[in-house]
Amino acid sequence: MNIMSFSSKVLFKFFNHAVVASSKPVRVRDAAAAAAPAAVVVQWRAVRRYHNFRKIINQGPAGAAHIRVVDLRSDVMTKLGPSMRQAMMKAVLEDDPMKREEKVHGLEKITADIFQMEAALFVPSGSMGNLIAVMVHCRERGDEMIVGDMSYLHIYGQGSSAQIAGVYTTTVATLPDGTFDLEQLELMIRHNYPRTRLISVENTHNIQGGRVLPLTFLQEIRALADRYGLLVHMDGARVMNAAVAQRVPPSTILQHTHTVMLCLSKGLGAPMGTMLAGPRDFISQAVRYRKALGGGTRQAGILAAAGKLSLLEMVERLEEDHRNAKTFAQALLDCDAPLFAVDMASVETNIVRFHLQEPSFSPSEFCDRMAQIGKGEEAALGQGVQVLMYPYFGNSVRAVWHLGISPEDTQLAIRKMQFVASQYLEEKVRAQ
Ligand SMILES: Cc1ncc(COP(=O)(O)O)c(C=O)c1O
Repeated sequence: MNIMSFSSKVLFKFFNHAVVASSKPVRVRDAAAAAAPAAVVVQWRAVRRYHNFRKIINQGPAGAAHIRVVDLRSDVMTKLGPSMRQAMMKAVLEDDPMKREEKVHGLEKITADIFQMEAALFVPSGSMGNLIAVMVHCRERGDEMIVGDMSYLHIYGQGSSAQIAGVYTTTVATLPDGTFDLEQLELMIRHNYPRTRLISVENTHNIQGGRVLPLTFLQEIRALADRYGLLVHMDGARVMNAAVAQRVPPSTILQHTHTVMLCLSKGLGAPMGTMLAGPRDFISQAVRYRKALGGGTRQAGILAAAGKLSLLEMVERLEEDHRNAKTFAQALLDCDAPLFAVDMASVETNIVRFHLQEPSFSPSEFCDRMAQIGKGEEAALGQGVQVLMYPYFGNSVRAVWHLGISPEDTQLAIRKMQFVASQYLEEKVRAQ
């Protein structure tokens, strides 16, 4: 089944789901606060490169009782839409670990079919999905896996492969497009000392800005792995974004990997859940490790009902996120104030990473200003707009599009970005 026939079976219900956090007014809590003098009460605290945006209590010029929030921090910020809520409410509930819940089974079957893999398993999170894959593939202590040095597994995984699975990790440099140098990778494979068992790739690549791994690269990695008797796992938290961007069915991508994990709870909009897929014996063992990790979910049918909608109805709409991300990236380049650098060719999916060209205008300061309601903003924009983004790796800023962000929100974010840039330049000129 190609992705077009897969998608054409699917109703495009994006607008049904567009209950957007971003368009919800954030009300002033009480009249006293509304009457208070204009002092922005947004607070944040930098925690290891991350901003902790506290809940906004807006005020501003008299009469401005609410502001609009456009939350571009991550695609995990999606909220449940009405059709997913309804499907969850109607779900027939059983205990999944004991009875292998029917709805969960159905979701696993759909996943295996779409991925053209033998079997699939519902697990609570992407992190657990990756860890289980590592545990199944590297069964003996001293087994080794090779991952990119900028991979989610390596950077954010809390060292779980070592902590919990006793697996040794070697890293290979992640190139800007999310791939590796295959010659360098080959040099790292070893059979004495630690024994290399597994190569893990990430598609799309989160830290490198949603980059899509080329199919030729995957083909070459698989050929290399086959030559050395290794396994290939894909951290495919966003593999559906890759499939949509490459206009291929996911199975075309996954033919080059032995196993994959896909998150239902990012762009696909489910409240939680991840699918792990691969050969039948891999999944049989994965069921045992899921239990060992405490990942058997009781009454999982409620989550499977949402997950089913994610797979059947939410894939095609990822295209809209990609379009919105490109629109914003282009606006950065077109901004009258030439402050931003972005490589348009690198904006392939729903993530935009960009740089500020002025050394004195840091990513943190830019993010802070985007998150505040600036002086004169309501007059200039017609309302207060809070745009949330993260300062990111390599002195960059990261913004991520998802189902909570409409084209209109994207335009608001663009206008806010233009406002912040012009304000910054005006202040700079005044200071000279
Ligand atoms: C590429 C990638 N892999 C794995 C994960 C972990 O998923 P979860 O948050 O469901 O544990 C994330 C989360 O953002 C991710 O971006």
